This record gives sequence, C-alpha cells and structure tokens, in this order.
Amino acid sequence: MAELTTVGKIADFVGREVHLQGWLYSRTDKGRLQFLQFRDGTGTIQAVVFRKNVSPEAFEAARGVTQESSCEVWGTVRADPRAPGGYEIDAGDFRVVQLAQDYPITPKEHGIDFLMDRRHLWLRSPRQHAILKVRATVISTIRNWLDAQGFTLVDTPVLTPAACEGTTTLFETEYFGEKAYLTQSGQLYNEATIAAFGKVYCFGPTFRAEKSKTRRHLIEFWMVEPEMAYAHLDDCMRVEEEFVSAIVQTVLRERQAELELLERDTALLAQVTPPFPRISYDEAVEVLNREGVAITWGEDFGAPHETALAQHYQKPVFVHRYPARCKAFYMEEDPARPELSLSVDLLAPEGYGEIIGGGERTARLELLERRIAEHGLPRQAFEWYLDLRRYGAVPHSGFGLGIERTVAWICGLEHIRETITFPRTLGRIYP
Ligand code: 4AD
Ligand code: MG
Repeated sequence: MAELTTVGKIADFVGREVHLQGWLYSRTDKGRLQFLQFRDGTGTIQAVVFRKNVSPEAFEAARGVTQESSCEVWGTVRADPRAPGGYEIDAGDFRVVQLAQDYPITPKEHGIDFLMDRRHLWLRSPRQHAILKVRATVISTIRNWLDAQGFTLVDTPVLTPAACEGTTTLFETEYFGEKAYLTQSGQLYNEATIAAFGKVYCFGPTFRAEKSKTRRHLIEFWMVEPEMAYAHLDDCMRVEEEFVSAIVQTVLRERQAELELLERDTALLAQVTPPFPRISYDEAVEVLNREGVAITWGEDFGAPHETALAQHYQKPVFVHRYPARCKAFYMEEDPARPELSLSVDLLAPEGYGEIIGGGERTARLELLERRIAEHGLPRQAFEWYLDLRRYGAVPHSGFGLGIERTVAWICGLEHIRETITFPRTLGRIYP
C-alpha cells in the first residue's frame, strides 16, 4: 500500500510506494512518457508517467494536466543522482483533482504590476516560496532566541488612543465616537509590562500611513519589540548585536537551499557576529560631510546617508546619540549633553539601511511631561504612561526590529514588497 507523505520526506522512502498530494508545476510531453514536475509546498519532484505502467485513464489525465492543476501521484521512489532533488517517482497512478485553465503566471517575464495584482497566485513560485521560508525562519528564531534569553511574550493592542512614533503617519479610525489609531508600535505598552515581567517582547503587525513610495516602506509591517527593565543604552546595543547575529546565522544554517535559489551571496552574512561597530551621530555627520553626502547637524538621516555610512562596514553598524529633536518624545537625554538623545539605530550593510530603532527611554516624570507638551501630544491620552514614572520607574531600554527589512537584507532583495505575503504599499490594498 502506498504511504501518504510529502516531497520533503521523500529520502526516507527510496524503493517504496508513496502517495503525494499537490500541484503541477510543469509538464514535458514525450509521447508515451509524461514528465511531471510536481510540487506540494515542501519541495518539487519529477514524476515519470510511462503509458505501460499506468491505466489508460491515468495516462490521459497526465497527458492533459495543466500548470497549477491540483493532482495526486502514486508511485515508487527512485534515487537518481541526475534528478534535481536526487529522487524521482515512477508513477503507478495519477489523478487530477481540479484542472486549472490558463494559469496566468507563466515562466516568461511579467511586469511587477501584473504580478502584484496576482499576488495570491505569485506566492506559489519558487522565488516567493524561498523568501517566505526565510521569513518563517527569521520569525521562529526571533521567538526561540528571546524566549531562551528570559523574555516573556506579552501582546500589545492594535487599536490605540495615542501616537507612539509621531503624528504624521497615524492611521486614524473611529472607536465608538472617539478617535483611535492603528498601532505604530507596542513600545509604550511594553514599558508598562516590564514592571510586571522584567524582560518582555511584543510581536505583531504595525501600521504607518507613510506617504513615501520607497523600496523600504510598507504601510503594514511586522515588528518585534523587546523591552528590558534596568537596562541602559549600552545593554540595549549588546542585546541587539547578539539577537541579529543569531537570526542571520540560523538562516544561513537552516535556509541554505533557499538562499542559493535566491542567488544570495552569503559571504558578508557569514561575518555577522558580535560585536558590531558603534559610531555616534556626531561622528556619522563628520564622515558624511567629508564624503560629500551633505547633512546639517540636527537633521535625521535619509536612505542616501544610511547607505553611505553602512558602506564603511562589513557588518551592521550602530549609530547612537541622535539629536533629541529628530527622535521620538520618550527618549532619555544624554546626561553629558542634553541636546542628544540616548537613541540608537542599527544600519544593515549593502544599502539596506535602518533595520532597528531603539534606545533608552526616559524614567523621569518632568522630562516626559515637557516632551509631551513640546511634541504637541494630547496629555490626556498619556496619563497612564506618565503613571509608569510615578510608580516604580527604573532605567529601561528596548528596540524594534522590522521583520520585512531584515528579510529583504538577508535575502538580498531589491524591494521590501516580496518579503510579506500580501504587501500593503502606498495606494495598493489588493489582493
Ligand atoms: O524606528 P522605528 O519607528 O521605532 C519604533 O517604532 C520604536 N517604538 C521601536 C521600539 O523601540 N520598541 O521602527 C522600528 C523598525 C525600523 O527600524 C524598521 O526596521 C521598521 O521598524 N520600520 C518599517 N518597516 C517597513 N515599513 C515601514 N514603513 C517601517 N517603519 C519602520
Ligand atoms: Mg527609526
């Protein structure tokens, strides 16, 4: 009796009868022989349907099967060093579940809008499959690593009454007659939960009504945000470099085949180990001006600045102590120079730019009250957050890592839109 299994486990079945369920990737017609490239989500394998070995109905089904039809194969597994995966199936039976008609995505080149309109189908292609496999490994590594380091997953709300990362990118909605916003970050809530758990993280979708149409911006993206009580800026950087190194090294180990399919040069990724270089914002401005990438002290960096800076390093680089005025309201001041914030961004190499933003949060009530006023934020919505500075405030730090930018970097992609199943970009919410 044929045993139901998957292509991913086929090596365990050499010489045995198996039953596979999946879809037709492609077919080559050689008359009495039909070569079917069959995929089931775990891999692709060639099934050889020879007229002599199957019933007339099964042979007709194989001869008429079209790209992306759902189908089932029964047959004997044969090890074949010439086959792409090292194995083939000698089919004994074949059945079409649903015959697909005129599948629109063919091996020829398609324009990006054509593919984005058909994202629900495009996801089946080998390249998209490889990217999303890397994404899944990035996410499982994130959770495993943080759990092992003593962080507790504490979820934060998606509907919020206040802004975390500035009011210009808020997605507004209505909440029973009150204004509400889709979350930009779970950070403020993490700052509450650290007083209950010590070290926490939240992980979920976040929203920014970004008016910028760039290779690095999504409207809806996923962020993991660790937060730690009794932690200063330096502690934060140490956790970040260990964390990012663990993610990259695990993907290199577990997703070799996918990175190869994506033609990713992994030489630089292999070097991603602690420690990462650290430069101050002041130093960064000097470097940029020396190189003719003009910037005035006090301005935030854009993509060209980040690319120019990261070029000097083989590894991701920390830029710390940005001017307070280009960062969010919750940042702690540098005690030596109050015009600076104890913030830190992590810039990825190869032009991928900022993948992490974070730093030390102020533990001081008066500074926070002053900043809320300076940033024109509604004090009422932040009363609970101010309470955290009234009842057992401690030095604390944390950061947010953008999943899609990290995946784009690790996979070496041109554009962030391929790193998420159904991207929300400027002007596109279909499919
Ligand atoms: O630098 P950001 O805005 O930091 C925060 O939201 C902090 N509250 C996080 C924290 O400290 N807990 O965003 C963090 C990261 C960025 O470095 C980037 O990787 C990603 O989130 N990100 C985006 N990714 C895709 N599209 C966008 N529009 C993004 N905006 C931020
Ligand atoms: Mg940032």
